[in-house]
Amino acid sequence: MDKLKVGIIGTGSRKKKPGPTGFAMAYRHAEGYRRLPNCEIVACADIVRENAEEFAKAFDVPRIYLDYREMLEKEELDIVSICTWPHLHAQMVMDCAQAGVRAIHCEKPMADTWGNSKRMAEECERRGVQLTFNHQRRFGKPFRMARELLKAGEIGELVRLEGACGNLYDYGTHYVDMFGFYNDETPAEWVMGQVDYSVEKLVFGMPVETHGVFLWRYKNGVFGLMCTGDAAEAVGAHNRLIGTDGVIEVGAADGTPLRIKRKGSSSWEVIDTEGEGLHGPGYIERAIADVVESLLEGREPELSARKALNATEIIFAAYESARRRAKVNLPLDIEDNPLKSMIESGELTPRTG
Ligand SMILES: NC(=O)c1ccc[n+]([C@@H]2O[C@H](COP(=O)([O-])OP(=O)(O)OC[C@H]3O[C@@H](n4cnc5c(N)ncnc54)[C@H](O)[C@@H]3O)[C@@H](O)[C@H]2O)c1
Repeated sequence: MDKLKVGIIGTGSRKKKPGPTGFAMAYRHAEGYRRLPNCEIVACADIVRENAEEFAKAFDVPRIYLDYREMLEKEELDIVSICTWPHLHAQMVMDCAQAGVRAIHCEKPMADTWGNSKRMAEECERRGVQLTFNHQRRFGKPFRMARELLKAGEIGELVRLEGACGNLYDYGTHYVDMFGFYNDETPAEWVMGQVDYSVEKLVFGMPVETHGVFLWRYKNGVFGLMCTGDAAEAVGAHNRLIGTDGVIEVGAADGTPLRIKRKGSSSWEVIDTEGEGLHGPGYIERAIADVVESLLEGREPELSARKALNATEIIFAAYESARRRAKVNLPLDIEDNPLKSMIESGELTPRTG
């Protein structure tokens, strides 16, 4: 069988120090494809020639492009990984779909606005293109084992999911997505939230709140709660699954990857996650393997756009709630990114001093 032809958009550079603006996620994707005997990275594109050349050298990629559209035109790509910043995702996804790419694996967060998130998913759906987003924690043992414990009834019926991290849009997309994973991909019904924007902060070019508190109800009655910035301390664990008969924590405050407290017990039981933590190892490699396998099998991928949309709707609805100062019922009837719009209109301004 011919190998699947893979192209990469946005190679990044390993020469730069990793930070909030330069993780070079393309290298992580490429390591995933390199392990698969049925895949071959045939081309990469980056507007910075030096970045594309460095990447091509690292992964023996035969052709580089400075214009990804030219790459899409000239190469008959089966799979494209999009590893650029979020404001570029939607257009790139749509260009790939229109060029006949069969599977697109795009970095998180989905897009810069709710409208663009929906549009990119619709375009791929219409054209029968597989679209996935790199919420790779779905492949991590602490997260999967937490779900297994929940499904085995170890904490009774799920009541509430809690999460904590720096911000809702960028890091939080992983955890709102994980909540979908724990809660059988149930869509949310309504969302309420409030943001503090005292310090101007851009992550991968997108503004994020300084602190935030967000609450929502899923259609099955389970609640979701995310606390960000200083409010994260109120939750104190990366993920907490609260059931009628116990509690599970993923990424506990003491650094334990996974632990459970059962009804009637005052102590935590640490669960062995066999060396896997919140970030890996191996999660992105497994994500890429699933992207390829699901394409070949014609099944829904673990990281499907359908699941990512559920999480993304909650995130933009949470910002919309802050804008409306009201509970927001879903489906979300806006197109923009309310946080960005509020900043642009001057409704939200960083405090000085
Ligand atoms: N899944 C995760 O855990 C995780 C972790 C970190 C970052 N990310 C996400 O990965 C994405 C990329 O972040 P990064 O830090 O890897 O980026 P990066 O800055 O390291 O690399 C982005 C590259 O895109 C290139 N680029 C910009 N415009 C382009 C265009 N029009 N055509 C082609 N190339 C273009 C840049 O020159 C740069 O080389 C972001 O959306 C970020 O949120 C995900």
